[in-house]
Amino acid sequence: MCGIIGYIGDRNACEVIVKGLKRLEYRGYDSAGIVTENRGSLFVKKGAGRIDELTGKLGFLEMPGKRGIGHTRWATHGVPNDTNAHPQTDCTGRIALVHNGIIENFAELKDELLKKGHSFKSDTDTEVIAHLIEEELKSGGSFEEAMRKALLRLKGSFALGIIYTGEPDRLYFVRNESPLVLGIGDGENFAASDVPAFLEYTNKAIFLDDREYAVLTKDSYVVKNLDTGEVVEKPVHEIEWTLEMAEKAGFPHFMLKEIYEQPRAIRDALHGNAGTMRSVAEEVSKYDRIFIVAMGTSYHAGLVAKYLFQRLTGKVPIVEDASEFRYEFENLIDENTLVIAITQSGETADTLAAMKLAKRRGAKVLAIVNVVGSMATRIADLTVYTHAGPEIGVAATKTYTTQLAVLTMLAIETARVLGTAEERYLESLEEGLQRVPELIEDVLRHDESLRELAEGLKDKKDFFYIGRGISVPTALEGALKLKEISYIHAEGLSAGELKHGPLALLEEGVPVVAIAPRGRTFDKMVSNIEESKARGAYIISLGDSEDLRRVSDVLVEMPRMDELLTPIVYVVPLQLLAYHLAVLRGNDPDKPRNLAKSVTVE
Ligand code: AGP
Repeated sequence: MCGIIGYIGDRNACEVIVKGLKRLEYRGYDSAGIVTENRGSLFVKKGAGRIDELTGKLGFLEMPGKRGIGHTRWATHGVPNDTNAHPQTDCTGRIALVHNGIIENFAELKDELLKKGHSFKSDTDTEVIAHLIEEELKSGGSFEEAMRKALLRLKGSFALGIIYTGEPDRLYFVRNESPLVLGIGDGENFAASDVPAFLEYTNKAIFLDDREYAVLTKDSYVVKNLDTGEVVEKPVHEIEWTLEMAEKAGFPHFMLKEIYEQPRAIRDALHGNAGTMRSVAEEVSKYDRIFIVAMGTSYHAGLVAKYLFQRLTGKVPIVEDASEFRYEFENLIDENTLVIAITQSGETADTLAAMKLAKRRGAKVLAIVNVVGSMATRIADLTVYTHAGPEIGVAATKTYTTQLAVLTMLAIETARVLGTAEERYLESLEEGLQRVPELIEDVLRHDESLRELAEGLKDKKDFFYIGRGISVPTALEGALKLKEISYIHAEGLSAGELKHGPLALLEEGVPVVAIAPRGRTFDKMVSNIEESKARGAYIISLGDSEDLRRVSDVLVEMPRMDELLTPIVYVVPLQLLAYHLAVLRGNDPDKPRNLAKSVTVE
């Protein structure tokens, strides 16, 4: 996820752009850059770091020109450094562009362009687009046609802002699976990833749809279909949000926004890894001793991975809390060991220490990380990115479900390499995984009823979350979400464990949240729910079977899916429930007390 802002009008473009970038900084903040045009020349300034720092250091506010484009980056390809910052340019320096998204086929396009003599400066997937347009321009025709032809060759997601010196009066903006909105002013026009970037100047907005592009001049705009080049009539919306509301896209908190972003984030995670998961799986398949190390929510993702791997590949990874692993398992690690570290931030001290220990002992280290260029990626031999975009809320939501998405992909692909599961089954699982974003969209419709449910539960002192098999980690994660933002005591456990002690704590009205998808232990789960109900517990079940209605006080109806995919979808109502309980209790879910987004000390 990155932020884009473009301006064309009579103001100094750089001033509008710097303000816009600051308002988009929540979308990415590892590097930033601006291009402006003045008297037929492009001026490009960019670098790694925060906007404020770069504005002083590079002199963003001294850039000449009345049209320009800015970008704040959240790296997906290429570490965050000065060269990989956007804008990226072609060989001639006449085309500059900024990008939000992931180009899946960039490697093959780059090879083709290298053979044609193009020289590349960065490691980004974005630079390919500038050279591809340059190449198309060589065959004559207008810039717009060349741009369109080039873009039709891209696979993946992209929101782009493009400027060309050969056309002094316009800017181009393109959208495909990454957001882009136009701001329509009086004698000036804007485009941005998100409304707050231009809301100070205009509240008239046009939301581009996928595979549409806009040509902006200072006095006009036109939107066209990328595939056909035909003009598309678009409604102009009047935005009624305040600036603060707009930054969170109208959501009251980042956490809620991030919960709602999950379908998009998972699509990016699946796209972003489609071409590379096979080679990672080949590496994984070589090892019999596999450790998974992580903390908190990432540890729960590791627990889900254990079930995925044991069911699909027959390999049983040992999942360890990284703070324990580093002191307890040293003698088991050698060059025949694979250590998979899961960390969204890539900066968690215990996880990094576990990775370093593994490296010292000669193990292979694979990192599953959200933040490109973070420390974990530098320690690891191999990195898989989750492509969730920046997560501002302290509670992990979209970074968790994207971790689960890539771990599911990895388990499927490893099973394929090893031949440990039927290809037909793996294909159907893959198809199911592709449908997960839609299933989550479905589940998000429970939001209001979960809020109403939370009203009745907000004064409870204890919650229990129970599950069986692959739903045990979901129970743990549901409990963790509740604890960290609502400050209500919660326990997550296997339903079978209830009778071995915790059942003594159940009394009239204590909420028990049962994660009960259909699957191999469904009947056992129903019995455990009955046991709890018999002790007076208030049962909230999540499931896809009518049988649950009889034993539950509340049934959160879930869509039907393969049991192995349920962790990604079933956690969503639990995130929402925790969120609403936190808000109803007067807490700020984005900044829970005593906690930090990344724990960089032991
Ligand atoms: C969960 O909501 C927390 N934010 C926390 O448990 C987190 O998952 C843990 O600190 C690990 O962080 P990491 O993924 O950045 O390594």
